[in-house]
Amino acid sequence: MTTARTKNGFAAGRLTVHRSPAELNAVTRALRGAGRKVALVPTMGALHEGHRELIRHARRLPGSTVTAVSIFVNPLQFGPGEDLERYPRPLEADLEVCREEGVELVFTPGVEDMYPPGSSTRLAPGPLGDELDGAVRPGHFAGMLTVVAKLFHIVGPDVALFGEKDYQQLVLIHKMVRDLDFPLSVVGVPTVREADGLALSSRNVYLSAADRERATTLSRALNAGAAVSARGADAVVETARAVLAGEPALQVEYLELRDTELGPAPATGRARLLVAARLGTTRLIDNVPVQLG
Ligand code: PAF
Repeated sequence: MTTARTKNGFAAGRLTVHRSPAELNAVTRALRGAGRKVALVPTMGALHEGHRELIRHARRLPGSTVTAVSIFVNPLQFGPGEDLERYPRPLEADLEVCREEGVELVFTPGVEDMYPPGSSTRLAPGPLGDELDGAVRPGHFAGMLTVVAKLFHIVGPDVALFGEKDYQQLVLIHKMVRDLDFPLSVVGVPTVREADGLALSSRNVYLSAADRERATTLSRALNAGAAVSARGADAVVETARAVLAGEPALQVEYLELRDTELGPAPATGRARLLVAARLGTTRLIDNVPVQLG
C-alpha cells in the first residue's frame, strides 16, 4: 500500500491516518460541520474478521456516515504480568484491512499522545468493574473506560460499535455513556466465530495447535448450557460446567449466568452465560445469550 502525507496526517488508499488527537479532532469536527455523521470502531489493532464485521456494521448505518477506526494498544487496561509487550501490533496489515473495508479515518495515537506526562485521571467503573473479569484483572475496566472516554472526546462519534465477545466491556460502556451523558449511541455487534465455534480474538494467535483445538470447549460448553435453557438456570450452568470439566487443560476462572445487564440471573427471560478460562498462558473469554424458562 502506498502512503503519502496530507495536511492532516497521511493518506493510505482512500483512508487518512492520524496520530495526533488534536489533528483527528479537527478533521471529525470539520466533517460534522459539513453534515456528516461519524461512526467509531475502537480497537487495539490485530484486526480480524470480528473487527471487519464491526466496520461493516458501521458502513451500513443510514445517512452520510464516515467510518473511523482507532488502533491503540492501551497500556492502562493491562495488569502487571499481562501481555502488553507481546500483544500483536501489525499496523501495516491493519491499515490494509481498513482500506479493504472502506474505512475513511484511522486514528493511531502513541502512548505519549494519549497519556502525556502528568496525565493521571482515571474513570471508576463502579461495582460491576470488580466482578467477573474485573475480579481477575484488577484495574482493567478503569483503564478500558478511561481510554474509551478519551476516544469519545477526541473523535466525537455519533455512534460507537463494540463486539459482544467482550460482553462485560460492552455493558460497562453502555453504562458509562448513560451515567456521564455522552451524546452518542453504543451498538453491540454479535460475536464472530470460526466454523468450529471458537470466538474470534486477537489473542487466539497465542494458542498452540493443540490448545486451539481445546479452546473450542468454551463455545461447546456455552451452547450446551443454552440448549437446556427451558429447564432453568441451574440446568444451564450444570450442563455447561460438565462440558468444561471434560477438558482438563482448561483452568476455568468463572462460569456465570447473569441477566443481560450482568446483575443476578432472572428465573425466566433473557440472560447471558459467560465463561473465562486459561489455556496455558492464554486467557480466553466467551459468552452467549440464553432465554430462560
Ligand atoms: O475491545 C478492545 O479492543 C479494547 O478494550 C478497546 C475497547 C478498544 C479499548 O482499548
